Amino acid sequence: MRVAGAGGYSATFVTLQTLGLMPLAVSAAPKLQLAPGAGKGIKVVVLGAGIAGLVSAYEMGKAGFQCTVLEARDRPGGRVWTVRGGDIVDSIGEARQIASFAGGNYFNAGAARIPSIHKTILGYCKDLGIALEVEINSSRSTLLVNDRDFGGKPVEQRQAINDTRGHVSELLAKCVTRGALDQELNGEDRERMLGFLRAYGDLTSGLVYEGSERAGFARQPRAGFDAGELRPPLDLHTLLDARFWNAMLFEEGLDYQATMFQPVGGMDRIPYAFAKKLGRVVQYGSPVKEIRKTANGVRVIYSQRRDDKAIEADYCICALPAPILHSIPNDFAPRIRRAVAATVYADNYKIAWESKRFWETDFNIYGGISWLSSGPVGLVWYPSGGLFSETGVVLSGYGPEGTTEFGSLPAMEAKLNASRAAVGRLHSGYDQHLRNPIYVSWGKIPYNQGSWVRGFSHPDGNEGDYYDGPYREFIEPDDRIYFVGDHCSHINAWMEGAVLSAHRALEMMGERVRAEGRARAAN
Ligand code: ALA
Repeated sequence: MRVAGAGGYSATFVTLQTLGLMPLAVSAAPKLQLAPGAGKGIKVVVLGAGIAGLVSAYEMGKAGFQCTVLEARDRPGGRVWTVRGGDIVDSIGEARQIASFAGGNYFNAGAARIPSIHKTILGYCKDLGIALEVEINSSRSTLLVNDRDFGGKPVEQRQAINDTRGHVSELLAKCVTRGALDQELNGEDRERMLGFLRAYGDLTSGLVYEGSERAGFARQPRAGFDAGELRPPLDLHTLLDARFWNAMLFEEGLDYQATMFQPVGGMDRIPYAFAKKLGRVVQYGSPVKEIRKTANGVRVIYSQRRDDKAIEADYCICALPAPILHSIPNDFAPRIRRAVAATVYADNYKIAWESKRFWETDFNIYGGISWLSSGPVGLVWYPSGGLFSETGVVLSGYGPEGTTEFGSLPAMEAKLNASRAAVGRLHSGYDQHLRNPIYVSWGKIPYNQGSWVRGFSHPDGNEGDYYDGPYREFIEPDDRIYFVGDHCSHINAWMEGAVLSAHRALEMMGERVRAEGRARAAN
């Protein structure tokens, strides 16, 4: 009762869970608790119709707030952007591109996968009726290549992973049988460890790695007397030299573990579903020109069809990325201005091509990512949607530009050539099937000018931990302005972070609205 008195419902709930008196709802999406009618008579202007702005307006609408969302572009979603045939891609300093993919083919230029642990955004997908399918983030049939090893020939991940495991298991088994670990393991544990290594590395009864079916066949088994032929194991020396580790372990990153999801038909199904619910609340083609404070609220100047307009509101939810805030005149507190100026965004790019699905028909690759350890382009990411259809959109190149080898290529054409060449190195001769490329580099995309927070720069030029710097400012409101977006969460570069930042800001604002209402009633 004392906890309830001090901390209300949420504190009581969490305390009861901690004491084991209520189940831990690991699988449930955290729900925002804005009471219906809580926002009656309160005007809020939301800046930006990316995921954080859309979720804010959607939730506030349900609670009776009167919202307007100002969006510079003619579409919702921000970095949740799906490019289809006929779409225009304008980039700062680059020629205009017009996508010419066939109907049904698409390119998720920004957000492209949702981990199963991102329950809140998945909860919205369910509520909004968005059909999801599995996003295949890893596949043992995908390839690894390093120019200087294995004669520059790609190897399948199933080979690299299982041969590495086999060799390591054999080495560790030798350590155990030769007594090198007698200090660390007692007799019983030594036997158990050998049993584990035999299974883990697929070792022979003599604890030797002689290859494994897990690594695939040189010749597939067939009917009759043809039992097939195993591949000889890749040798340990070359595996060590090739250093495929990061690629091999990519799928172990918590946010990249199976099962991952994507909306059927394109990631922008999510922002469009929110936008449909919001209707005329979202004002498109309305870039923000100034963000001002008034005595009891905010005043935002924006342009719409070349006219300058102004909107006044009690609160502002600012869902614009930091590089954009930098160039908008504002009345922010000095601490926020400093935070905006110091925040450094990454400039990741993606290049996509339309092609016949040779990776499926000729390489047995259905989704997943192949990796290149040398050269300007590090990965090729195969589509998870439309499996077994004629054509698809394959990604060749996704990474930061900055001072990288890729970023130093002189022009878009050289970047497209490098992207095509990466496909050719993995799939010799097949790059001729690639057509209709689209290059999206987030550092050059108007109204973003960055992909996600990379860090922050001190005035002395050094970079530091963003979470010890600007982040601490963004998560506290500046008078009646609340900042939201993935940069205002600990889940940077994911939709889930954007959603949770919106929930947190709305909870803070809702509490303030309640408190001010109580104060007014008391006077
Ligand atoms: N969320 C980004 C990705 O999945 C970083 O690649």
